[in-house]
Order: sequence, then structure tokens, then C-alpha cells
Amino acid sequence: MKQIDNLNLDNYWIPFTANNVFKQNPRLLVEAQGMYYKTDDDREILDGIAGLWCCNAGHCHPHIVKAVQEQIATMDYATAFNMSHPKAFQLAEKISELTPEGLDRIFFGNSGSEAVDTALKVAIAYHVSKGEGQRTRFISRQKGYHGVNVGGTSVGGLPANRKAFGALLSGTDHLTHTWNINEMGFSKGQPTWGLNLAEELESILSLQDASTIAGVILEPVVGSGGVIIPPKGYLERIREICDEHNILLIFDEVITGFGRVGHAFAAERFNVTPDIITMAKGLTGAAIPMSATAFKKEIYDEIVSGESAAIELFHGYTYSGHPVAAAAGLAAIEVYENENLFERSLSMEGIFEECLHSLKGENHIIDIRNLGLMGAIHFGPSKNKTAIEIASEVFKYCYENDVLVRFSGEFIVLSPALIVEENQIKEITETIKKGIQSIA
Ligand SMILES: Cc1ncc(COP(=O)(O)O)c(C=O)c1O
Repeated sequence: MKQIDNLNLDNYWIPFTANNVFKQNPRLLVEAQGMYYKTDDDREILDGIAGLWCCNAGHCHPHIVKAVQEQIATMDYATAFNMSHPKAFQLAEKISELTPEGLDRIFFGNSGSEAVDTALKVAIAYHVSKGEGQRTRFISRQKGYHGVNVGGTSVGGLPANRKAFGALLSGTDHLTHTWNINEMGFSKGQPTWGLNLAEELESILSLQDASTIAGVILEPVVGSGGVIIPPKGYLERIREICDEHNILLIFDEVITGFGRVGHAFAAERFNVTPDIITMAKGLTGAAIPMSATAFKKEIYDEIVSGESAAIELFHGYTYSGHPVAAAAGLAAIEVYENENLFERSLSMEGIFEECLHSLKGENHIIDIRNLGLMGAIHFGPSKNKTAIEIASEVFKYCYENDVLVRFSGEFIVLSPALIVEENQIKEITETIKKGIQSIA
């Protein structure tokens, strides 16, 4: 008997989902292993999106499962303020070995949204501590996604995520996004056009006065907004401008961290070092929720100075550095290292790119974008359907035919676990192709 038959669907308010439509025809996952989910109707589904860009080591990796089981039986929770436990320090040290040189002070949260709000608050606190309390504004980018807390929503650049929530934080400006179908359609990896868009930062600075800006926050590769790869030289130029004006540069690497673009972090891939990096998702391979924000040592030293018994930063979460999450994080990073998964992600990039771009020419596709193991297939409208309807039909076709892809507005997003095999990438793209061809 299917579990759905015994479920009361009324009480759970499902996030980022059309609840009533979903509840008429719910899709339930009940087991997971490696690259596959099992559904409530007993089907094996090939997971083309690593859960939600997060199960980078594949599902239920035995090493992570064991570490979680052992930790939860040893110590379920350790008081987080004025107390700690060894694994939080060990994980912070491990993360600092993966982040670019100098970003070696690690603050833990539970979600990407919390990592982002931690980054924004600490950026302001840093300037206040330096006697520059007028630096309160942030600049971000259209199509950016920085989670759902008030800070992250305010710097977010997806209109649907903002419109129901009022004025949000004052003092945010948004750069134009870098997607331009005429100039960079069907680019493989980094587009060559678009460097000029970085100059918009100068233009905002001249309007707002650079001395009022606390930080610039960007996803190095836009994820939820449609896998938009930065034009060549763009991030480098943003870094230069921030340096000229003493503005902190924050990379939101909640998706791109932990191997998604073939390196530990996109900062390493693009050779651009920000002052702050947010991370979550792949940090624990998604087995237990956890996020982290990595800061340059100068930022930490500015705030955490002296030997006073007074608390330096009035910020933190009950579950910051939670022992079970820390155990999962340490185990996940061990898996990435032992199985060379970041290198594997890079080595699969060519096959992934080839398979994705083989869809060029199929009906309704107006663009395909990719980097590392993240990609998007972007649809345009047909005579009788919107692009969103087309993407939604492709998603449903794939799910009914045992492949999970992500339907996200006008595009289908792919982000398989870093253990994905060539034949699985082919199966995912072939199923998408049939899904497109099935559209009337
Ligand atoms: C770039 C980025 N930042 C922040 C977040 C928010 O993370 P969470 O959903 O864990 O709060 C996400 C989630 O997808 C993300 O992609």
C-alpha cells in the first residue's frame, strides 16, 4: 500500500510549492541511495539535481550515515554559547583549508539563508567597529537568490521572492543581471560578452557615494535565477572596484561551494578572492542542515579584539556548530577528499556540457547554459503555451519517466551529485529530450 493513502495532507504548508495543486497529485519520495530516489509508488528515480543542489556525495553515503549515527548516540547537542565541542573546531579548521587563503574564520548557521544574513550583519558590524558606521548599504544583482530571511530577501534579485514582503531593508541596489540571449546564447562555460556590465557598479557607487556601501553580495554563478555564468573578467572587475572603495565583497557560494563547479569553491575556479563566503548545502552533503560563513581574518580580528569578558558579536544560533551537523560536515568533506569528488566534477564537466548542448535545436529551447555540474535549459513560449508551462510539462514528463529534474520558472535546472556517471547524464538529457518532444 502506498504511504500516501494514509496521509493527512492538510497541515503541512509546503515551501516554494503550489500547495493545492501539489496536494491533488502529491509526489512523495520515501528512500534514497546513491544517485537514486525511491518513490511512494515504488519507482526508482534518477536524481538529476542532487536533492536541491545539495547531496553532492550522493544519497545516504555510508561514511556520512555512520558519522551521524555515532555522533547522535554520543552527544546529541552541545550548548552553543560560552560552551562548545571538539567537532565544531575540527570542522571550522577543515573548511578553512578549503576556502581561499585568508578566509579562515568560520561562523556556523543552519541554512544558507542564515549564512547570508550572518554575512550581511557582520559586514555592517565590521565597518561600525572601524568607525565607518555610515557604511550600511548593500549592492547585489538582479536574478540573484540569497535565501529567504529579511536580509537575503532584500538583496535578492528575483521579483517573485520579494513582491509579497513589503519594503524590505532600505539601502539595497541591484546590478543588472548578466544574461543576454543575443550576446551569449548557447555559450559553453563562461561567456565572452558582458564584462562591460561590471562598470554599472561604478555608476551605482557614484550615485550612492561609495563611502555608504558596506558590501557587494553576488552568487559567483547565479543558481536559482537560471544558472547564469559570469562573463569572462566580470568578477575580477567587481573585485577591483570593491578594493578601490574599501567595500567588502561577499560570494554567496551556497550552491557553488563543495565541488559544484569543479573546485572546492567558485572563488578558486575563477581565481577571485572575496572577503566573505557563504556556504551550506554540500557542506554536510545535506544529511543534516548546516551552513557556514567564512570571513577574512582581518574581519574577525577587527571585531574580536582584546581580552574583555564581554561578548564581541551579539549574533548566533542555538544550533550553531551543532555536533551532529559538524560530524556530518567532517564526514562529507572526507568523502569529497577520499573519492576526489571535486576533481571528478571537473572531469565530468565536458560530458555534461556535451549532453546538455546536444539538446540545442529541440523545440522551444532558447538557451542552454552550463559550468561544472550545474546547467540550465531555458525555454521560450510556443503558440499556445508559456515558457513556464513548457518547463513544467518537461519536469512532469521526466518525473513520470523516472528522472528528477528541477523546474524553476522558464527553465529546467540540472545539478547531479558529483558521483554521477556518464550514462546517467545521458539518461537525464535523453529523458528531457523526449519530454520536450512530447509537448503538443
Ligand atoms: C545562493 C543561495 N543562497 C542562499 C540560499 C538559501 O539557502 P537555504 O535554503 O538553506 O536557506 C540558497 C538556496 O538555494 C542559494 O541557492
